[in-house]
Amino acid sequence: MVVVDVLNKKRLGKELSYQELDFIFNGYLNGTVKDYQMSALLMAICINGMSDEEIFALTKIFIDSGDILDFGDAGIIVDKHSTGGIGDKTTLVIAPIVASCGVPVVKMSGRGLGYTGGTIDKLESIPGFNVNLTDEKVKSQLKKIGVSISSQTANLTPIDKVIYALRDVTATVSSIPLVASSIMSKKIAGGADKILIDIKVGKGALLKNREEAKKLADLMVKIGSFYQREVRTVISDMNTPLGYCTGNSLEVLEAIEILKGRQYGTVLSDLCIDLASEMVSMGKEISKQDAKIMVLESLNKGRAYEKFLELVKAQGGHLEKMKVSKKTQRIKAPIDGVIKKIDALAVGKLSIELGAGRKTKEDKVDHTVGIKLNKLIGDKVKKGDILAILYVNDKIDLDNIETIFTIGE
Ligand code: URA
Repeated sequence: MVVVDVLNKKRLGKELSYQELDFIFNGYLNGTVKDYQMSALLMAICINGMSDEEIFALTKIFIDSGDILDFGDAGIIVDKHSTGGIGDKTTLVIAPIVASCGVPVVKMSGRGLGYTGGTIDKLESIPGFNVNLTDEKVKSQLKKIGVSISSQTANLTPIDKVIYALRDVTATVSSIPLVASSIMSKKIAGGADKILIDIKVGKGALLKNREEAKKLADLMVKIGSFYQREVRTVISDMNTPLGYCTGNSLEVLEAIEILKGRQYGTVLSDLCIDLASEMVSMGKEISKQDAKIMVLESLNKGRAYEKFLELVKAQGGHLEKMKVSKKTQRIKAPIDGVIKKIDALAVGKLSIELGAGRKTKEDKVDHTVGIKLNKLIGDKVKKGDILAILYVNDKIDLDNIETIFTIGE
C-alpha cells in the first residue's frame, strides 16, 4: 500500500477500507507515516467526513492500539465524558454521588485543553492527590470504595493520544467523526459497560450549535450499539461558564459546596443532579425518576460528600492544605442594569492568562488562581458593584481583557 494513494482516495471523498485506515493510523503511531501525511488525511476527513463503517473501523483501530481494561465482576461500570467546557467541574461532584448510590465509577480524565479546563488539573490542586494510578490500584480502590478518578494510563488508546496532539495544532479537532471515535475508543478501552456523554454546545465549547451536537450524539449512540454498549447523551449549554468559579482550587471548593448541599437550584447543581441520575439509572437499570430520588437522598444525607472525602483520602490528597491566591483584583460594573450575558470563552481566555491553564504543552498550571463570578445572568447591578473577583499571582491589566459581562436594561 502507498500512503499517497490512500490520501488521494480520501481527498476525492471515497470510503477507506479497514486495512487502509489501519495501515495509515498504525503507521503514524510507529513513525512510518509522517506528520505532514497524517495532517493531510485528517484535513481530508474534516472536509469530506467518514461513513459509519469507516468510523467503526477507526474506533476499533484506536481501541486495539493499546490495553483494554476489564474490571471483571466489579458490577456494571458506568462512565461519563464531557466534550469540554469552561468551569465544568461536574465530574468532581458526580463521581462521588454515583459511587455513594452503589454504582461503581472508574473515571479516566484529562488535563485542560485549549481554553477548557481538565479534571486532572483540578484534582492536582489538592496537595498530595495522586492522579497516576496503575490498573491494579484502580481495581483495588474500586473494590474498597467504589470510585477512582485518574489520568489515562500511557497505554490506553495510544493512537488517539498522538492523533489528538496533531489535531490540536492542525485545526482538525472539531471533526464529528474524529471526536466520536476519539472519545468512544477511550471509554470502551477504559472498561466502561455503559457510557454517558455530556455534549457541550456554545461559545466556550468545541461544538457551536445544537445541530452538530445532535449529529455527534447520534453517532456516539451508533458506535455504542456496534460495541454493545449502552450510550446516553445529554446536550448542555456552554455559552456561559458552568457555576461561579473557573480555576483549579476554586473549582474543587465549589464542587465541595455542591456536595455539601449548599448550592441547590443553580445551573451547575441541576446539571450535576441530572447527569448523576442518568448514570445511576444506567448502572442500576432503574428509571431516571427513581435514580434521581437516590441521588438527592445521597446528597441530602451527606453520603456523596463522605464518598468524596474517601476518594481524596484513598488517592493521598490533603484538602486542608489546598490554597487559593490571597492576591485579588475586582471587575466592577461600569453601568447600572441587568446581566444579560457572561461570555464563557472570555472567561476561559482570562483564566489561561491568569495561569490556571496552559498556553504551551510545557507550561505549569498555577492551581491557586482563577475567577469567581459574583453575579450571574439575570442579576440586577448598580454601577461599581463587584461582578467578579480574580485570584491572581501577578497583577493583570483589567483594561486589556475581553469583555466578560454584557449589561443591558
Ligand atoms: N475530547 C476527546 O477526548 N477527544 C476529542 O476528539 C474531543 C474531545
